[in-house]
Amino acid sequence: IDELLAEGVDNKRVFVRADLNVPLAEGVITDDGRIRAVLPTIQALVGAGAKVVVASHLGRPKGAPDPAFSLLPAAERLGELLGAPVAFAQDTVGPAAHGAVDGLQPGQVAVIENLRFNPGETSKDDTERGEFADRLAALADVYVGDGFGAVHRGHASVLDLPARLPHYAGYLIATEVGVLRKLTDEVQRPYAVVLGGAKVSDKLGVIDHLLEKADRILIGGGMVYTFLKAQGHEVGTSLLQEDQVPAVQDYLKRAEANGVEFVLPVDVVVAPAFPDLKAKAPTHPATVTVDAIPADQQGLDIGPRTAALYAEKLADTATVFWNGPMGVFEHPDYAEGTKVVAQALLDSPAFTVVGGGDSAAAVRILGFDEQAFGHISTGGGASLEYLEGKTLPGLAALEN
Ligand code: 3PG
Repeated sequence: IDELLAEGVDNKRVFVRADLNVPLAEGVITDDGRIRAVLPTIQALVGAGAKVVVASHLGRPKGAPDPAFSLLPAAERLGELLGAPVAFAQDTVGPAAHGAVDGLQPGQVAVIENLRFNPGETSKDDTERGEFADRLAALADVYVGDGFGAVHRGHASVLDLPARLPHYAGYLIATEVGVLRKLTDEVQRPYAVVLGGAKVSDKLGVIDHLLEKADRILIGGGMVYTFLKAQGHEVGTSLLQEDQVPAVQDYLKRAEANGVEFVLPVDVVVAPAFPDLKAKAPTHPATVTVDAIPADQQGLDIGPRTAALYAEKLADTATVFWNGPMGVFEHPDYAEGTKVVAQALLDSPAFTVVGGGDSAAAVRILGFDEQAFGHISTGGGASLEYLEGKTLPGLAALEN
């Protein structure tokens, strides 16, 4: 983008593909981190006199307008953060979008409606995606890719649009890639990875890759129970991906062969039922060792001995990547494991990258100072796929 700014953007229509896919509760944004993250790019373009057209997806609507997934709340928040009015178009490539863009003065910003309201955005059909990209291209003279959280998607606005316009990477993408390179090309050892979250199946690719890269892998969250099952433990009514047990057993064997230390919980916090996250009423948690999970209980957090063990395992590391909370941190009865791990990362001298919407939200919601972490990535799937060594369509499109 510095190159673009040096060439001059005064009066040019610049399309910024951002990732404004923020969490919403009844129409209210609960974490605006992704909007803040793209501000430097938008502000630089505004300051240079560009007519800025901001576009993003939000959630997973079914290729048609759906008010529950409108980008309007994100556009309003963007306006508040910029301290200037932002025009909002109620369609993506129709008369409203053209009207909003035509009405822009240099240094002004318009947000168009959720890209996924058009089936062409996510289509697997190249022609259909291409037609939508042609219509998006008609809104702008230049493309700036800055939606790091979506670069792993081969979607029209990410993959096909940059091929139709002069294209540049924004500041956020440049920062994210610079940081993630430190975890792939130039990693300082010992390198530990903390993986949590619900499903093992989402993390298979990254675990596979990390078995060749990391020195230590610590497992938390709902994934734990598939690992415990693979070790021969009974897991009660905990989240379990039975079909993944053989893959996990294979990982445990490979880790041993490669000298990678897999660290699994020694105790967990269990309860009879999943807690009500809205009411946050006290539940009836109990701490048990992993060989004593009652048949009618489910694991909802790592236990205190495990949290202390994980803190110890993180204390002497040089680099840490953390993706996924350790338990159901949204409820106070099951937040302790995630808190202890977050604090351990702050106490450790390691360069720490927090990746993934849930762990980033956990850091903020649990009251930690996000600035104290080395880097909080705006990409969940994108950062995992980057670490897997995959070619990310949105990055490849900007390099071409
Ligand atoms: C994310 O939240 O990880 C990104 O915004 C991508 O969203 P998606 O998984 O719906 O494509």
